[in-house]
Amino acid sequence: MNRVEIADGVYWVGAIDWNLRDFHGYLTPRGTTYNAYIIKDSVVALVDTVKAGFFDELRRRIEAITDPGIIDYVIVNHVEMDHSGSLSRVMEVASDATVVATEKGSEELQMLYDCDGWAIKTVKTGDTVSLGEKTLSFIETPMLHWPDNMVTYVAEDRLLLSNDAFGQHIASSKRYSDEYPGVLDDAAKYYANILMPFSPLIAKTLQKIGEMEIEIDVIAPSHGMIWRDPGIILDAYQGWSSGESNDTAILVYDTMWGSTEKMALAIAQGIIDAGFEVKVYHLRRSDWSEIVREILEAKIVLVGSPTINNGIFPSVGGFLTYLRGLRPKDKVGFAFGSYGWGGGAVKAIESELEKTGIKVVDSISVKFVPGADDLDACARLAWKVVDEARNFNSAISHP
Ligand SMILES: Cc1cc2nc3c(=O)[nH]c(=O)nc-3n(C[C@H](O)[C@H](O)[C@H](O)COP(=O)(O)O)c2cc1C
Ligand SMILES: [Fe+2]
Ligand SMILES: [Fe+2]
Repeated sequence: MNRVEIADGVYWVGAIDWNLRDFHGYLTPRGTTYNAYIIKDSVVALVDTVKAGFFDELRRRIEAITDPGIIDYVIVNHVEMDHSGSLSRVMEVASDATVVATEKGSEELQMLYDCDGWAIKTVKTGDTVSLGEKTLSFIETPMLHWPDNMVTYVAEDRLLLSNDAFGQHIASSKRYSDEYPGVLDDAAKYYANILMPFSPLIAKTLQKIGEMEIEIDVIAPSHGMIWRDPGIILDAYQGWSSGESNDTAILVYDTMWGSTEKMALAIAQGIIDAGFEVKVYHLRRSDWSEIVREILEAKIVLVGSPTINNGIFPSVGGFLTYLRGLRPKDKVGFAFGSYGWGGGAVKAIESELEKTGIKVVDSISVKFVPGADDLDACARLAWKVVDEARNFNSAISHP
């Protein structure tokens, strides 16, 4: 088995999950990897493990470098099971190893695994572990992705082992982002679906890392490609976490008999005529994680639903629930839909959009099939929301 040396004495020993297509609801058409790293010095450290079921692949990759029985430290940057699922198997082989985690991480490990007999060392920001020539430093990054998260920095190699941060769900025989065209798209999808709710925290963490003046040549995350040109992904995170957006509207809808769809298409044409780009998604035919990736960088979010039993169509309701949890920043939008008698969906969407933090400019409901006047009204509302998006964003950038 080949050895993948990402820095002097630092090896990638992860597992490639070629066939994963759904990561707790997030569609992963390209699969993913669970990245783990061996740092070989006078003392040997394993940084993170892999999902349960992939232990044998991890073990074989470690054996190509060293005897797993001599591992001294197992660094657990994050207790989520995609990274800790093989920990018990690792500890059976490396029974003298010390597990290193944050205080929250240590607590949570006890809830997830039978840790009887394991030596666990609890660390906080600034703590270090010497491996001989190299020293591991730890920086707590709570909520990136769970309360327990930390990152591990190796100053001698200017190497940041960042766990979930800066990752992407890509299975590939390539290991470096510069060998994988389109990697930023996957990084954006990952950010939107996993990290978007924590954007304010990410902005603060990036600032903190900036102030610590640590030099970074390589960022090695726990999913996907390794960045040996870290400026690219650091700049992208700066933009995403501060809510930078394009002149684009994302329009999502569902329909039973086609009326809401007619409205959707009239609105989409209005958006184009008003000078913005538009992307249209039928919610039962589209990958929601892809839509959310598009919303990350858009200024406008438009949501349509017919009324069913006084309320929102289930796919639209489900999507709004997902979006609300992700808390997209600085968007404007409106609700639209067709109804037959009492209505209800459009008001309910408005209220959901407001709770999501999206500024609602107006809304439009049409009784049964929209006529020419209704479709004109849809187009006019499209112009209005584009105007509002232009004003809203210049107000944000020049308060
Ligand atoms: C199963 C079902 C339930 C409905 N429930 C309501 C309702 O509670 N209130 C209402 O105003 N219209 C109701 N309607 C009427 C639809 O909202 C109306 O037909 C609308 O034009 C459908 O839009 P669409 O063509 O985009 O699906 C219902 C229609 C169906 C098929
Ligand atoms: Fe995670
Ligand atoms: Fe993960």
